[in-house]
Amino acid sequence: MDQIYEQHLWGGKDFDFYSGYGSHDNNIVKPYLEAVINFLDSFSEPLVVCDLGCGDFNIGKHLTSHTKTYIAVDIVEKLIQRNKAQFKADELEFHCLDISKDDLPHADCVILRQVLQHLSNTEIHQILKKLRGYKYIILTEHVPIGNFIANKDIISGQGIRLKQNSGVNLSESPFHFKIKDQKTLNEHFVENNKGRILTVLYKVF
Ligand SMILES: C[S@@+](CC[C@H](N)C(=O)[O-])C[C@H]1O[C@@H](n2cnc3c(N)ncnc32)[C@H](O)[C@@H]1O
Repeated sequence: MDQIYEQHLWGGKDFDFYSGYGSHDNNIVKPYLEAVINFLDSFSEPLVVCDLGCGDFNIGKHLTSHTKTYIAVDIVEKLIQRNKAQFKADELEFHCLDISKDDLPHADCVILRQVLQHLSNTEIHQILKKLRGYKYIILTEHVPIGNFIANKDIISGQGIRLKQNSGVNLSESPFHFKIKDQKTLNEHFVENNKGRILTVLYKVF
């Protein structure tokens, strides 16, 4: 992941760190933020939120004021150092962690936005084992339009499963992730038939 940022493999040559068009295109970002803020604001007692794979924080920076505490995590050390310097707010923390290997912070709600799509099934499995402790998961995945084969395995990195007509679906094999309830919060169809970016709210327990 360090190399992806250093070599600007997700685009954004004019940025120091760039997490991809999914994190910057207003047509994608605005409706996503509206839906997530609507959910966060529905609680009289604000939630503690943990953003796993927070990236360049172009998304997270809009959410912090709608939470009790916002804990943003990424595996790229230099990115976390840059985020710490650039984004300051009460009750905002940044941590450099490998979410597939390290213990994760306590929170009410996890945000996983366009992260699992880049990871192998083994890594996703390791992460899922740790997600049962969170009441809510807001999961965003870039998946094909129409029917697709869920969870074809990939090597973790820059790419996603889309070219193989596949995408992450946690309830399908090999994950069979059990949840209490789920609701689609947002769906964006990417131009030129290049799939859809789907955001689902899972109630875990
Ligand atoms: C495509 S970016 C999305 C960033 C952000 N969630 C957003 O939507 O703007 C994926 C992010 O996940 C991070 N990531 C990938 N594998 C990780 C891991 N094992 N532990 C923590 N972060 C990871 C990457 O470094 C990258 O910043």
